[in-house]
Amino acid sequence: MCIGPNRDLKSSRWERQARELNKRVEISAPGKLMLFGEHAVIYNRPCIVTAVDQRMRVAAELTETKFVRLEAPDVGVKEYTELIGTEANSGLPKGARFTATAVRNFYHHYGIGSGVTIRTKSEFSSEFGFGSSSAVTTAVLKALSELFGVEISNKELFELSYKTVRDVQGVGSGFDLAAAIWGGTIYFRSGESEISPLEIDELPLTVGYTGIKADTPTLVRRVADFHLKHEDLANRIFDMMSDIVEQARDALTDLSVENLGELMNINQGLLDSLGVSSQELSQLVFAARHAGATGAKLSGAGGGDCMIALSLDQHRELVEQSIERIGGKVLKIRTGALGVHREQNSDTW
Ligand code: MEV
Repeated sequence: MCIGPNRDLKSSRWERQARELNKRVEISAPGKLMLFGEHAVIYNRPCIVTAVDQRMRVAAELTETKFVRLEAPDVGVKEYTELIGTEANSGLPKGARFTATAVRNFYHHYGIGSGVTIRTKSEFSSEFGFGSSSAVTTAVLKALSELFGVEISNKELFELSYKTVRDVQGVGSGFDLAAAIWGGTIYFRSGESEISPLEIDELPLTVGYTGIKADTPTLVRRVADFHLKHEDLANRIFDMMSDIVEQARDALTDLSVENLGELMNINQGLLDSLGVSSQELSQLVFAARHAGATGAKLSGAGGGDCMIALSLDQHRELVEQSIERIGGKVLKIRTGALGVHREQNSDTW
């Protein structure tokens, strides 16, 4: 049940606290790259994901109104206003629906009815598949918790973020939310909800963007169809992906670059067998391998978006050139970025 606009607006403890503590907070959350285990993670197998140093920024400000106001120019929303307690999502671009739904879920969960303005700004394009929806969802919820002085653990933030993503999109394992919240590089399993940070150094990854925007729910449905048709085969593929994740976890902590590269290549072959690679992704993957990358695979849902290559310093330049020569765009990123946090004294807007 949502909080209706006619609700008795006698201030809640949180709202009084917000007036005393903060009028405006700014939060940032990182994007992510899936390293191993995409798709299988939907079927309760583990995966490994890293947070990247391209961030989503959110500013939340209290207002003396009964409205939630959104400004999200990166997703084409100059200004959107919603009476608190209403659900007027239609016509809102998908990117802004995560923000509007996050505010509603937070207000409902904590019984809040104060006016607020939320501004979002992304350092990365939502086209890349770096998880702009999960980063914005997490950052908005964290911003509201800071604004209203609600103490919220990472686990509670994850649960509210996960509910929001499921409300908007219907599908998703939540691995991207874990990366946005905890940061670093994470071993993640949704069914049994294991989220374990891995103590590792930055990875020598080259990222190549295909120039094609992939639609995650469509690719998840494609794999669901495959699973329906070839259940036994699909489960065995997911089990092999799960073994790869376990071995990659060891290889990452032992810094065994050669093993990691081989595991990436095997993971790519299995993703191809599920039907989620594409000509463009395969071309970038092979170009990177031929240029000396230790291993290469698609990252995320497939169908487009990005591929990743493990490239040691001596091969990095050639790998980048080879990716660009066949039409890919090299994105400069660093792995293991900090999770969601409040930005002190920042001046993004
Ligand atoms: C998409 O980046 C990764 C998938 O496994 C979907 C998910 O886990 O939510 C395909």
